[in-house]
Amino acid sequence: MQKQLIKWYQENKRDFPWRKDQDPYHIWISEIMLQQTTTETVIPYYNRFLKNFPNVEALASASLEEVYKMWEGLGYYRRAKHIHESAQIILEKYQGVFPYEYDAILSLKGIGEYTAGAISSIAYGKQVPAVDGNVLRIISRYYLIKENIAETKVQKKIYQIVQELILNHDASAYNQGMMDLGATICKPVHPLCLECPIQKGCLAFKKKQMDVLPINIKK
Ligand code: ADE
Repeated sequence: MQKQLIKWYQENKRDFPWRKDQDPYHIWISEIMLQQTTTETVIPYYNRFLKNFPNVEALASASLEEVYKMWEGLGYYRRAKHIHESAQIILEKYQGVFPYEYDAILSLKGIGEYTAGAISSIAYGKQVPAVDGNVLRIISRYYLIKENIAETKVQKKIYQIVQELILNHDASAYNQGMMDLGATICKPVHPLCLECPIQKGCLAFKKKQMDVLPINIKK
């Protein structure tokens, strides 16, 4: 399914300002904004933020108040505090160059496994999964995984499946393809299976189970 998904992404990818280049600083800012905010809302904030803080140095030398001001309306203001702190760490510890190593990226404030995977694959082309709710839903449908995706054990299993799928494939296109597929086709309710690029191998489609998967029971 990787090949079909990647081909579909390359031909149908949504046009976002953070998809114009692979500058790790740009990808980082976009992924932090997209953590809790929709793409549509993020677009103008992303553009304005980069105009005001075009690089790590500019962000690190701004005051926290200036950063908060650029964040006004986005919500979850802890994210703004985290990127401001991280910019200073990048300046001091990495001479202003956004870190390349996965563990170094993961250790920055406000970056979890998903965001570290997204940045590593999109900015550096590393073969790292970026597993969020979209990916859990798509994979559990595709492979008919009738286990609770709220469980860490199941999330780990899906992470491993994705790791194997992206081996020797374009992880950046795969991960972003999954984001686009989850947002536009393999939606939580009423998925558009007839338009899906990976419908052929999808077990949930085959068994007409797409409306009961994923199982998501939060305890
Ligand atoms: N959601 C999180 N990261 C994204 C990205 N890079 N493109 C589109 N949607 C996203």
